[in-house]
Amino acid sequence: MVAAIAAIGGGLFGYDTGVISGAILYIKETFPMSVTTEGLTVSAVTAGALVSAMGAGVLADRGGRRLTNIAAGVVFAVASILCAVATSVPTLIAGRFLVGCGIGLTSVGGPMYIAEASPARIRGTFVSLFQLAITIGILLAYIVCAILAEAHAWRWMLGVGAFPGVLLAIGMTLMPESPRWLVKQGRERDARAVLAQIDPHGDADAALLRLKSDLAAEGQGTWGELLHRSLRPALIVGIGLAVFQQITGINAVIYYAPQIFQSAGFTSDVAALGATTGIGTINVLATFIAIWLVDRAGRKPLLIAGVLGMVATLAVLGLAFRGGAGVSGSNLGLITAVCLAAYIVFFAFSLGPIVWLMISEIYPLQNRAQAVAVSTASNWGANFLVSLTFPIMTHRLGSSATFLTYSALGVLTLIFVLARVPETKGKTLEEISLLWR
Ligand code: BGC
Repeated sequence: MVAAIAAIGGGLFGYDTGVISGAILYIKETFPMSVTTEGLTVSAVTAGALVSAMGAGVLADRGGRRLTNIAAGVVFAVASILCAVATSVPTLIAGRFLVGCGIGLTSVGGPMYIAEASPARIRGTFVSLFQLAITIGILLAYIVCAILAEAHAWRWMLGVGAFPGVLLAIGMTLMPESPRWLVKQGRERDARAVLAQIDPHGDADAALLRLKSDLAAEGQGTWGELLHRSLRPALIVGIGLAVFQQITGINAVIYYAPQIFQSAGFTSDVAALGATTGIGTINVLATFIAIWLVDRAGRKPLLIAGVLGMVATLAVLGLAFRGGAGVSGSNLGLITAVCLAAYIVFFAFSLGPIVWLMISEIYPLQNRAQAVAVSTASNWGANFLVSLTFPIMTHRLGSSATFLTYSALGVLTLIFVLARVPETKGKTLEEISLLWR
């Protein structure tokens, strides 16, 4: 229940990042705008997420994980309504920025809350539900846009997020606080009660003791400690994974799929949009591979297999777009469709869920909120860079070189995973923090 409620935030994260590509077409009919204003309207969400991720770190630390998720729900609800009723472009951009703030709050608070409330043996599965919700949100956005396209109803497209926002806020007020945060506040009796409630078959007293000793072994929980040597290896892994998740091109595909399909020969809008919905569906389905395997096979094998597959499919795409190698127009369309689908499968069971999972489990309790915030902000920063540079790169360098660049960055990701990332399967959060020490 805890995981499912918190994951509603993931659904809104996915929906609100996915919906704009459809909505912007009709927003431009109501408010004729320059290319720059259009860019601002689209990217305001990412900017909001980037800024609020840091604030979410402070809130999660001082006010608690539960409050951070409640705040996300409220912000989503208010922001969606603001977007829906906007009568001017500045109001709309402000609304989109606020939606981004909701996403920043949930992307810090959601996975961390789920990880801290889960028993170690199934933590991977539970946190992966957050990623599943992201993918469902993206798919729903495609579907809602398709349904409302004829009516040009962009206000509804942006406004429907208010309902799940309210649901998240109310649902979270009914959930218990994270036992880890309670211990950090010195509220041991409350923490023990939550531990016993969440894992009735586990030993709550032993769990409480572990939490307390982890806390005693670490610093004071200040932001400055993030620069300390003892935290560095974990921070490198967290920030590294967050950035690699983005610079291997996932959102070039998620945000620009219709254009990619069109440049590969799917000339009609309907075919390009149909293919895009296919990508969204595959993204949802392949996430189940991670949900099933992440606590069985472990994080690292999934990461290695997934990134290898991403490197290979991006390389084939890059070569196919170069032409010359006997790839004719109709073949290019087919190769593009198959490669993009396979690329999404590989991402969906590796970098997609496992990055959010590992960011929320690798840091010691004392500094977790801050370190998660910094990692998440890096993820949004890298996301912003990729979505900004993809159109420029394809324009200047061509599609082939662009995909080959992402493939090369995938090779770097692989080396990083092999050299730096520890296996955390089955370990309690306190055992993981001991592992670094
Ligand atoms: C990433 C998003 C991406 C989504 C695609 C998430 O894990 O953080 O940037 O759009 O996966 O499913």
